[in-house]
Amino acid sequence: MDDALHLLHTPLGLAGSGRVRYGAAMELYRRGMISEAQLDVYREASPFDGRDPARLLADRGLPPVAPPPGTPAAVMQALFAAARDYLSTLSFPGAAEVRAGLGRCSPAGRVPAARRHPVADRWLGPALDRAASHQPQLAAAIARAAPHLAWISYDAYPRAAIGDSFAEGHAFAAIAGGSAAYSAEDFELGLFLIAPDVLYRDHCHRAPELYAPLTGPHGWRFAPGRPLIVKPAGEPVWNPPLQPHLTKVGPVPFLCLFVWTSHVNEPAQVLPASDWGPLEARHLTG
Ligand SMILES: [Fe+2]
Repeated sequence: MDDALHLLHTPLGLAGSGRVRYGAAMELYRRGMISEAQLDVYREASPFDGRDPARLLADRGLPPVAPPPGTPAAVMQALFAAARDYLSTLSFPGAAEVRAGLGRCSPAGRVPAARRHPVADRWLGPALDRAASHQPQLAAAIARAAPHLAWISYDAYPRAAIGDSFAEGHAFAAIAGGSAAYSAEDFELGLFLIAPDVLYRDHCHRAPELYAPLTGPHGWRFAPGRPLIVKPAGEPVWNPPLQPHLTKVGPVPFLCLFVWTSHVNEPAQVLPASDWGPLEARHLTG
């Protein structure tokens, strides 16, 4: 069974892979493991090595075929499910919007190449140690997926405006949307990691945004010049479109799930404030 399942998940784009996937689908159908409608999808996609049967299955409302246990696709699928389950427990003004976006996500048929990042290399482990006491299942799912995550820095801000410490002290990894293992149109779910004590200066963006922090404490404000509000792990922060926000990381690395529910390709902008110096020098306790 595993052989046929592995062959069914032959990476897209390889010469002849469409026919390999169809051959595997016929075997799984013969064993009663997929339906005739699912088999039809693999048959129709078979002449096209780059066509993603998972996308066609989703378009037709058919269930995806689970990848073999332990493969990167299966591990990323488990992370997506753990993240979705956790987010569904939270209460915040945009919950319906987030739930609808998660419902549009489907397996992308290909797991992007993993990409290491110095911030993740240094801080993901300590962050997960803390997150495990708050959300053990989700922390375990992130830890299992860690070797397969593709970490990047957000590069839309001018360096002088966002500052060196944030530019060099953060990393993102997509879970759904963009080129992630789960695809979705104009929606993004991912992990966001910031090193201890870093200030993420005042900024805003058109995308409605959820932060679901798995570590804490951290400081927030929602207009330049306002005092910080300190929040613990587990308290969601919902930012409506264009709402200013700032995050001051505390003594432990900041790890959160983030969601952008629309306008994901519109860049964020830094908003000027006169008190970044003292905030960058400040150490939150807790
Ligand atoms: Fe934001």
